[in-house]
Amino acid sequence: MSSDAIPVLTIDGPSGSGKGTISRLVAEHLGWHLLDSGAIYRAVGYAAGMAGIDLTDAEAVTRMAESAKIAFRAARDGGDTRVIVNGHDATDELRTETAGAAASAIAAYPALRAALFDKQRGFRKAPGLVADGRDMGTVIFPDAPYKVFLTASAEERARRRYKQLKDKGLNVTLAALLREIQARDERDATRAVAPLRPADDALTIDTTGIPVERVVAAVLAVVRRA
Ligand code: DC
Repeated sequence: MSSDAIPVLTIDGPSGSGKGTISRLVAEHLGWHLLDSGAIYRAVGYAAGMAGIDLTDAEAVTRMAESAKIAFRAARDGGDTRVIVNGHDATDELRTETAGAAASAIAAYPALRAALFDKQRGFRKAPGLVADGRDMGTVIFPDAPYKVFLTASAEERARRRYKQLKDKGLNVTLAALLREIQARDERDATRAVAPLRPADDALTIDTTGIPVERVVAAVLAVVRRA
C-alpha cells in the first residue's frame, strides 16, 4: 500500500482538550498507530536543555531536533507509552508544564517545524494512524480523510490538566495552571507558522462536560461514517 492510501485520523486542539486520552483510546479501538506530536516537541526541548542549549537559539535547537534520537516504546505494564530521548527514559520529565511551555516556545521556530516534518509523516503506517497535535490536519496530514478538532473551556482544560498532574504526583495549583494554559494557547494560536486552528474540513467537538466515552464514540463515528 502506498503511504498516501493509508488512512489517517487527525485530532488537533489546545492543551487539556482531551486530545491525548481520546487519541489513545481511539487508536486502541481501531488498532491503528498513534503519533503524539506534542511529545516530539517536548522531547526536543528536553534534549536541548540537557545539552545546555539556549532555547532562544533557534538554529541550535533545530540542529538538536535533527540529531536527537527520540523513540516511543510501549510500557511493559500497559501504562503510558514511554518516550526515550537519547537513550534516557524522559517520560516523567516531559509531562511537566515546564516541558510543555518550553515545547510551545520552540514550536514557533519555522526551521524546527520543517526539520520535524518528515519525522512525523513517517508515522503513517498500515493499517492506519491517529495523529494528535496542533497542525496535524492543517500542515502535516492535510490530505487525511478524517479530521477532528477538540476544544473545551479554558477552566475545564485547566481542571483536567490539574487532575492529570496531581494523579502523577506533581505539585501544581489550579490558578497557576489556568494562567499557563491560557498563555500557551495564545502563543500556539498566534504564531506565524502552523498556528493552532481547525482545518477547514475538520469536525469541531466541544468536550466541555462530555464524558470521555461519548467523545470517543463521536470521533469513531467520523471514521465509520466514511
Ligand atoms: O500536545 P502537547 O501539550 O504535548 O504539546 C506541547 C507543545 O508543543 C504545544 O504547546 C505546542 C507544541 N506543539 C506544536 O506546536 N505542534 C504540534 N503538532 C504539537 C505540539
